[in-house]
Amino acid sequence: MARINDNFLKLKAGYLFPEIGRRVKAYNDSNPDKAAALIRCGIGDVTEPLPEAAREAIKGAVDELGNRDTFRGYGPEQGYDFLREAIASNNYAGLGISADDIFVSDGSKCDTGNILDIFGPGNRIAITDPVYPVYVDTNVMAGNTGEADENGAYEGLVYLPCTAENNFAPALPEEKVDLIYLCYPNNPTGTTASKEELTKWVDYAKANDAIILYDAAYAAFIQDESIPKSIYEIEGADECAIEFCSFSKNGGFTGIRCGWVVAPPGVTGASASGERIPLRQLWSRRTSTKFNGASYPIQRGAEALYSEAGKAQVSELISHYMENARLLCEACQKANLTVFGGVNAPYVWVKCPEGISSWEMFDKMLNEAQVVVTPGSGFGSAGEGYFRISAFNSRENVEEVCQRILDNLA
Ligand code: MLT
Repeated sequence: MARINDNFLKLKAGYLFPEIGRRVKAYNDSNPDKAAALIRCGIGDVTEPLPEAAREAIKGAVDELGNRDTFRGYGPEQGYDFLREAIASNNYAGLGISADDIFVSDGSKCDTGNILDIFGPGNRIAITDPVYPVYVDTNVMAGNTGEADENGAYEGLVYLPCTAENNFAPALPEEKVDLIYLCYPNNPTGTTASKEELTKWVDYAKANDAIILYDAAYAAFIQDESIPKSIYEIEGADECAIEFCSFSKNGGFTGIRCGWVVAPPGVTGASASGERIPLRQLWSRRTSTKFNGASYPIQRGAEALYSEAGKAQVSELISHYMENARLLCEACQKANLTVFGGVNAPYVWVKCPEGISSWEMFDKMLNEAQVVVTPGSGFGSAGEGYFRISAFNSRENVEEVCQRILDNLA
């Protein structure tokens, strides 16, 4: 008899986005006349075409593979040097991060889950609430938690509430923790962390010998130049932080997958005997054992996002989605709803009208406005009473969503 990983049985609902998909399908099945009017602003999935620079580079790379002289088989597991160097020199210029610190992957979702392979049992793990569900669920799967309580909070995790009252800036944990997940610009609240705020976390991590797992997947959407785009803008972060980033949202790569992990050599953890081991060494070992690298054409496509034309096309995409976010914020405000985020991030975090829960709001938006949003409570109990609108959509759809917000909620 094959034993299963019983930790999976502790997971509460299905993964949030498939669960939303299931409810939307049920709605469509019972309201076939309304299905065509449905607009999806739930999962943050890009809608605009892949930038031309990336498309051309991918096609060129596919042609290379069609020729015996330029054919390539397995690539380096950590990614091709051309892409690692482009990432280091563009995203981390002047921050002391080199190509050797970068591991190219098939995206941040996988990386933020897989990173747990290199950490042992018994770590105290701090998670902001609300939070991107992958961080919680992968810790449950890895056996790092106990059971969930009636609010869906897992025993053993240290939750750091992010609410309007604390301006979505979580307080430092009251107890000593070993791993801290931070995501800025934040998914789901769309809020950001200032340099002072991040310095507080880096100082905490260094003083407590903790590791920050920093998800910067939405960094490209930051408009305000004073807000850090990388944790390595903070002094000392290269001794205590691993960063995750992605081409999904800025380059429209959600379907073709490419991201990266930054693991500087000074970030270490302790073995059972107390020896300090660079986490990069373990991540490199893990990567070469369990991964054969992102595909060559996709890495060429990602590299092309850094060309002059590529940068201009990425900037256009970002302006498009950020104008969507502005329109959505404006419509919600006109409807007398309180909104957060949406200024340096493609997510708008909206307070539900008094007395309406997150899932009730999800149902109301679906049934009355035919708009799919994400219920805030799906991201954690501190998300109760909020809903998230994704700005990843066509302008036409966003204008229609704004109108429906005014028609149904004002
Ligand atoms: C989201 O909607 O939160 C994101 O699209 C999820 C993801 O990037 O995996």
